[in-house]
Amino acid sequence: GKDGYRHYMEKELHEHPVVIGQTLQRLIDPATRRVVLPDLPFDLASVPRAVVTACGSAFYAGMIGRYWLEGIARLPVDIDVASEMRYRDPPLTPGGLGLLISQSGETADTLAALRGMRARQQHIVSVLNVEQSTIARESDVVLGTVAGPEISVASTKAFTAQLSVLACLAIAAGRLRGTVSAEREQEMVAALLDLPSRASEVFDQAPAIREMAAVVANARDVLYLGRGSSFPVALEGALKLKEVSYIHAEAYAAGEMKHGPISLIDQTVPIVATVPSGPLFEKTVSNLQEARARGGRLLVFTDTKGAERLRGLAEIVVAIPTVDEFTSPVLQTIPVQMLAYEVALLKGTDVDQPRNLAKSVTVE
Ligand code: M6R
Repeated sequence: GKDGYRHYMEKELHEHPVVIGQTLQRLIDPATRRVVLPDLPFDLASVPRAVVTACGSAFYAGMIGRYWLEGIARLPVDIDVASEMRYRDPPLTPGGLGLLISQSGETADTLAALRGMRARQQHIVSVLNVEQSTIARESDVVLGTVAGPEISVASTKAFTAQLSVLACLAIAAGRLRGTVSAEREQEMVAALLDLPSRASEVFDQAPAIREMAAVVANARDVLYLGRGSSFPVALEGALKLKEVSYIHAEAYAAGEMKHGPISLIDQTVPIVATVPSGPLFEKTVSNLQEARARGGRLLVFTDTKGAERLRGLAEIVVAIPTVDEFTSPVLQTIPVQMLAYEVALLKGTDVDQPRNLAKSVTVE
């Protein structure tokens, strides 16, 4: 049941903290505070590159995974949506890593992409929530997200669980490839283990998120912006808004704005930006200043450290706890998904069963 929540989406949003914790528990040894992956039938240290593929939200999780695998483990990564990957013919060196991400484990395009990678002699590792699924059966290794059943068609908690697994995979790969020292691993693990309690604090921001929702619900089009690992968070926010509120939303890498989308900006197109503190903060702030100068209404997600700087600039600022820069996309996803939910409530849509959508897409 819904445990007293109005919708499964609301219930599942509130499960983020628990789900992150349970997923990490499987992959982190509490005694040594090191990442422990299941036994792999190949050597992660010697894979030449990773090819990441998935659909929808799982694909956006994969994009964040790419930042981590490249940045932390220095592993070259190619990524594409599965519906494209299955028809590409990428030249792949045998012995590479094929990394699939899927909540259901039944998505037709993801399965087809898996088979294509298998045919090219890649090692298949899948990040799956349903561990008894078709993709699971065809994988060499399954890394489970411990999100429990996700009923709402719009994915929420599966996303942060996928990120938890991908972060651990990047740390383990980095250790094996000599790019993550024992000391750095301890710091990163500490940052991950801090997430469940920080995630619980995000819900304190519900009133400010509702204020944002009131602005967004009156718009016809919304622009989502983010840079670096916040760009996939923006993509996730825009997808979620489209799915549950039927409002048109587009996500752009903040630096791409001046290459086109800035022409859309006026006071009728709210801009939802994810801008956590960190090395890309000032760059994104200057993109927001450009938008502001053109009359754009700024609705900004940041952390307590970034909030001060943004208060003068943005109309509404939602400041969630400041965490390690590496884990910030995990936390920043939560308010962005909450916003979509609040807008759907205002619009009165069928939140858990949006029109035209199915929970798992088992046909091409
Ligand atoms: O079951 P999967 O993770 O493979 O599903 C992938 C997408 O269909 C899914 O994430 C979809 O985009 C959701 N409705 C997003 O909320």
